[in-house]
Amino acid sequence: MADIAHRVHVALGGRAYDILIGDQLLDMAGPILAERFPGRRYGIITDDNVAKAQLPRLLASLDAAGLAHSEIVLPAGEATKSWPLLGQAVEGILTARLERGDLIIALGGGVIGDLAGFAAAIVRRGMGFVQMPASLLAQVDSSVGGKTGVNSPFGKNLIGSFHQPQLVLADLSALDALDARQFAAGYAEVVKYGLIDDEEFFSGSKPIRLRSLPAARPGARRLLAAVPTRRGW
Ligand SMILES: NC(=O)c1ccc[n+]([C@@H]2O[C@H](COP(=O)([O-])OP(=O)(O)OC[C@H]3O[C@@H](n4cnc5c(N)ncnc54)[C@H](O)[C@@H]3O)[C@@H](O)[C@H]2O)c1
Repeated sequence: MADIAHRVHVALGGRAYDILIGDQLLDMAGPILAERFPGRRYGIITDDNVAKAQLPRLLASLDAAGLAHSEIVLPAGEATKSWPLLGQAVEGILTARLERGDLIIALGGGVIGDLAGFAAAIVRRGMGFVQMPASLLAQVDSSVGGKTGVNSPFGKNLIGSFHQPQLVLADLSALDALDARQFAAGYAEVVKYGLIDDEEFFSGSKPIRLRSLPAARPGARRLLAAVPTRRGW
């Protein structure tokens, strides 16, 4: 069993939830969900990149725990955050006959987190959902806070709602599959937190060169693990 390195409680009264951060959490998702949400079924929304890189681990874990699930795989990319693909996700949830008490799992980067969270907010007048952020940006930013939605031809994120997840499960080992550009996009966000209001944290941020990224990852991971407490979650 992998260690859960950090457990951060987001105190929001009736909408409070935990963020679990650690290695190999996708492989442990089954028992974690079974313990926290007994008797639920799961609708997993992901994109085709993440489906290849991460979904098999999650499915194996849910199967081993005897949890019923269905999957909706959308195309990767920002263009997916749209009405048509939101409609596809919603229809997929209804086709799988998931009920109001069942849970949606958002497995992916910020695009999937935003879209799946919004789908959960509107299907059956609101279903619960679990964020399983797979990109660095999603782990340090978009999976927490409850902002969900899709884009419109009039602009980004113009359609949506606030809908808090019931759990965030951030598996650091998922980051190993990111290419250098995706990793750097999230790392820039981490460094920005330090720049804005935490000199000590910023000083701990190491400059990373994209070509030497594998060597930078352990340091980046330690920094990442400190983000929730630094942000006051
Ligand atoms: N809700 C919020 O508070 C909030 C905050 C910041 C950004 N966002 C939104 O987040 C989105 C950007 O998120 P992003 O940068 O994660 O982009 P993304 O979701 O498009 O992911 C980037 C790419 O990485 C791939 N990927 C992600 N995780 C992977 C993994 N573990 N293995 C292999 N491939 C993986 C994806 O398939 C995709 O191709 C934008 O739409 C932005 O508006 C939302």
